[in-house]
Amino acid sequence: MTKGTSLMTWNGMINGEFIQLEVPATERLVTILRDGLLLTGTKISCEIGRCGACMVLLNGEPVNSCLLMAYQCDGQEIQTIEGLAPWNEKELHPIQQAFIDEGGFQCGYCTPGMILSTTTLLKNHPDPTVEQIENALCGNLCRCTGYGGIIRAVQQAAASCKVDKE
Ligand code: FES
Ligand code: FES
Repeated sequence: MTKGTSLMTWNGMINGEFIQLEVPATERLVTILRDGLLLTGTKISCEIGRCGACMVLLNGEPVNSCLLMAYQCDGQEIQTIEGLAPWNEKELHPIQQAFIDEGGFQCGYCTPGMILSTTTLLKNHPDPTVEQIENALCGNLCRCTGYGGIIRAVQQAAASCKVDKE
């Protein structure tokens, strides 16, 4: 804890579970998730809001958790990649499966953020154009894939999610 930083009782709904922790008010959400709750699917890379590796959903909208302090997200609903298809469920979420099928990752560091951005995209645009996909993922940087597999993965995910709803 930084000297002089006051503690707060932080509350949050994380992946559907109520969590309460004593943390410095200026603790970053990414630190709460990774160090406090061991939800290490949320990655840290640039730490300045540029890469999207730390992306989570805050009340359903993608945010960079490296930029959000505890007091700014107190009492909010947060979803991490672990909440998409819990480890003890037999099947992956269709978006996760699509990233595997279409080779939408190599090292995988950007993938949790990509997938969470995709969940919001498909909620708002169930049949997205390539331009809508590119816009939705413009805050998620990938240093490995060249994006072709990622775009195909989102298109496959859109098709699978539509079938699931029929
Ligand atoms: S680590 Fe948060 S945006 Fe890069
Ligand atoms: S798969 Fe390596 S950063 Fe995207």
